[in-house]
Amino acid sequence: MGFRRKKISVIGAGQVGATCALMLAQRGLGDVVLLDRAMGMSKGKALDILQTAAVELFDSQVHGAAGYDDTAGSDVVVLTAGSPRRPGLTRDDLLAINAGVVAECCREIARTSPSAVVIVVTNPLDAMAFVALRELGFPPRRVMGMAGVLDSARFRTFVAMELSSPTRWTPWPL
Ligand SMILES: NC(=O)c1ccc[n+]([C@@H]2O[C@H](COP(=O)([O-])OP(=O)(O)OC[C@H]3O[C@@H](n4cnc5c(N)ncnc54)[C@H](O)[C@@H]3O)[C@@H](O)[C@H]2O)c1
Repeated sequence: MGFRRKKISVIGAGQVGATCALMLAQRGLGDVVLLDRAMGMSKGKALDILQTAAVELFDSQVHGAAGYDDTAGSDVVVLTAGSPRRPGLTRDDLLAINAGVVAECCREIARTSPSAVVIVVTNPLDAMAFVALRELGFPPRRVMGMAGVLDSARFRTFVAMELSSPTRWTPWPL
């Protein structure tokens, strides 16, 4: 049986999306496709990430998508597309804007990667995960939001700062 690397698409190539794509590639978790509505930027960032392979020595491919068809058949889709909160923008404004973005992206994801597991990162997270679940029409076990680990990581960091110890140390085996 042939070996097939996982295909992981990251939608939104901003701060979070580009960092996510870099970590996925450098950890060799799969071949990465990076898509943003600013297509030139996602292609440029994908190339920057791929070129780190010569130094970090990983085999993953990293590709800047020209459209959703390039993400077709993804095993995992990480959804980071959205607007950040800007001065003068209330949380309700942001919710309405990002709900539109998430719905639009999910319709394309459902069309091109109907078997994917979708990880929603866009804020406000719980609401956006719900919009994604509704628009995708996937079973709930294939749609999840990423946030809990961030809160735990922040908590551990602050505890470590108070104790002047490395964040990595834990009193229990992980
Ligand atoms: N869940 C978490 O723990 C967590 C942590 C950090 C950030 N976030 C959220 O993640 C999201 C992204 O944050 P960021 O700092 O990367 O923002 P960013 O502004 O740097 O990047 C967002 C990207 O999405 C793109 N985009 C917008 N609409 C799009 C569309 N319809 N299709 C494709 N791309 C589109 C933009 O062009 C931009 O490049 C925000 O909503 C932020 O609040 C969540």
